Amino acid sequence: MEYTEKLHSLVQKKFDHTPLVNVQTFGCVQNENDSEKIRGILAKSGYAVSDSFENSDIVIFNTCAIRENAELKIFGNIGKLKALKSDNPDMIVAVCGCMVMQPHIVAKIKKSYPFVDIVFGVNSIEELPYIVYNWYVDNKRMVSDPVVKTDIVEDIPVYRQSKSKATISIMYGCDNFCSYCIVPYVRGRERSREPQNILKEFTQLVKEGYKDITLLGQNVDSYGKNLNPQIDFADLLNMLCQVPGDYVLHFMSSHPKDITRKVIDTIRDNPKISRQIHLPVQSGSNRILKLMNRRYTVEQYKDIINYAKEQIPDVGFSSDIIVGFPGETFEEYLETENLVKEINFTQLFTFIYSKRNGTKAAEMEDNTSHKEKSDRLNRLIKIQQDIFFKYLESFEGKTVRALVEETKPGGYSARMANTLVVHFKSDNENLSDTFVDLKITGKKGTVLTAELLNK
Ligand code: SAH
Ligand code: SF4
Ligand code: F3S
Repeated sequence: MEYTEKLHSLVQKKFDHTPLVNVQTFGCVQNENDSEKIRGILAKSGYAVSDSFENSDIVIFNTCAIRENAELKIFGNIGKLKALKSDNPDMIVAVCGCMVMQPHIVAKIKKSYPFVDIVFGVNSIEELPYIVYNWYVDNKRMVSDPVVKTDIVEDIPVYRQSKSKATISIMYGCDNFCSYCIVPYVRGRERSREPQNILKEFTQLVKEGYKDITLLGQNVDSYGKNLNPQIDFADLLNMLCQVPGDYVLHFMSSHPKDITRKVIDTIRDNPKISRQIHLPVQSGSNRILKLMNRRYTVEQYKDIINYAKEQIPDVGFSSDIIVGFPGETFEEYLETENLVKEINFTQLFTFIYSKRNGTKAAEMEDNTSHKEKSDRLNRLIKIQQDIFFKYLESFEGKTVRALVEETKPGGYSARMANTLVVHFKSDNENLSDTFVDLKITGKKGTVLTAELLNK
């Protein structure tokens, strides 16, 4: 707080214009949520938020380490800042987020990217005013391994671009150590925010008119594990749903080993909670799931899905899948295909396994060629596409409710609670960020088309 004010007055003296900050997100929703805090804290320190890095006084890359291609893309983008920095040496280039929590990455930045001025860690956002202030004072490069911090800092200001959609982190870190995954190493141990702090943030958002609110955590079903008095994720959902208002509550991600019938019952009993559940399965083979350290079987996965389908007739499931995990045979891959066909996921995020140094899986033998792995991926994408188009068609003629997200030439784009996008036309110019009732008329590519009913 002290440095927010110090930086504010320094910046007012230093610049003859309002300085601009541009934050670019390369990772997941959690990463974007961090970016909103970075923008928030610098906005409090006297900066205006900009959409492009071109004229910005600070450019911040918030990075991701989940797969190798994410990292390669980020380095490509950092490289592009070199010319910009030589045109404007006063511009600060900062890199933060999951990728820089790895010492070999920081070493690479130190050596090969001399125009990067600052590196800071995933849990150091609140230190940013202090870091930037010191950079102006000392003008010394600050590129060293970020300290892994595990405390929870509340009340960091958040800068939200949308007026209707928002995310709230309910917990940080991950304890699961799925054998392929880097997240527990870069984001540290799991810790949950106190429910009253979440409730406060949530109530404020509803009051401000936010209508689509997503609770975030790497494994929301283990929310509250170390909190006292005891509370679990279902209790938290129940508590938040008591807040009066017109909104849809989403959450992600759930973990098949931890999602309980109590959570499903809570969704059933609270119409404000989205009927769309993201429940990453990763593989349809029990042997591979075991090697992945996922700690559930395909049978257990199907059990909870079946229970949910019984309790909540309009429930939909989306999922993440990794193909080509070390040692995955073609037959084991086919088990994944069969599961995908059986469950009818509404949406699937599919990935080729990417080796992450430091994880357990990185030490496993992997003899499958990249070609074979991408063939598996393409087969799966094709299967899912067919499922998805049938799913879209199932909405034809139905009446749905959707939140208007953006204006399109001659119309609007809206999103249903199940995340499907619907386009419709209307002469009414004031529909943005409101709920509308629509009658689905057809589909165009991957979106639905509709007629407006109530306005
Ligand atoms: N915590 C969430 C999401 C983690 S990252 C969860 O457990 O569901 C999102 C997805 O990236 C994962 O679900 C997984 O499918 C994928 N992923 C993670 N590590 C990966 C790796 N090394 N290679 C390929 N995909 C990976
Ligand atoms: Fe990674 Fe598994 Fe944690 Fe998800 S639950 S972040 S896949 S270790
Ligand atoms: Fe998210 Fe990537 Fe980090 S997926 S948690 S930004 S490694």
